[in-house]
Amino acid sequence: MTNLENLEFSSRYPTEGVMRDGTSILFKPLEPEDREQLENLIEALPSEDLLYLRQDITNESVIDSWLTSVEGGQVFTVLASVGARVVGYASLHIDSAIWSRHVGEIRINVHPDYRGTGLGAALAGEIRFVAPTFGIRKLIANMTLEQHTAMVVFERLGFQLQTILRGWVTDMNGEERDLLVMALTLPKS
Ligand SMILES: CC(C)(COP(=O)(O)OP(=O)(O)OC[C@H]1O[C@@H](n2cnc3c(N)ncnc32)[C@H](O)[C@@H]1OP(=O)(O)O)[C@@H](O)C(=O)NCCC(=O)NCCS
Repeated sequence: MTNLENLEFSSRYPTEGVMRDGTSILFKPLEPEDREQLENLIEALPSEDLLYLRQDITNESVIDSWLTSVEGGQVFTVLASVGARVVGYASLHIDSAIWSRHVGEIRINVHPDYRGTGLGAALAGEIRFVAPTFGIRKLIANMTLEQHTAMVVFERLGFQLQTILRGWVTDMNGEERDLLVMALTLPKS
């Protein structure tokens, strides 16, 4: 069964949210037809963000495998749109190893024009909401020490610092950075 056939949350989407500045946002799962809008969002990301990307999402083949993983149910991505424009996304990456199949990694990106409006927190909240549907009981978030806003967003959602791995990240310029791992244990439903 693919994500989109998962009835438990297909009834949730599309769902609307209102940002702090009054902007209406529509949340819905990523589908292949959203590709162009998703690519437009990625093009708008500041170079500083691209420096810390875990995967080079500016590369078309990476987007191809992202969409394939969504189709296969290994990744769930929720998009945030203002009108036809995609202004942010959050993904849940489900661990394929048997012993950590209850662990999901969250990744978020918000368009620079929409940061500081509560959108990052709302997107992370969507992932926290749907995660149990995938059997996820622990969420982890990985970021470099430089990604201060991400730390604030995850901490407010209840994520706690697990560890800092020194020199664990090689950024796009080839420089080593420290990796900060945060995690949240979801309440039993
Ligand atoms: C992380 C990210 C998703 C947050 O999105 P956002 O829409 O700005 O988040 P929110 O508006 O919900 O919350 C941000 C909060 O952090 C605060 N903040 C930002 N930088 C901060 C800093 N250096 N120290 C303290 N607080 C900070 C903001 O003031 C805001 O707080 P407020 O709600 O009290 O105003 C966005 O910055 C982004 O896309 N960053 C690049 C990618 C990334 O880091 N992803 C996360 C790793 S997976």
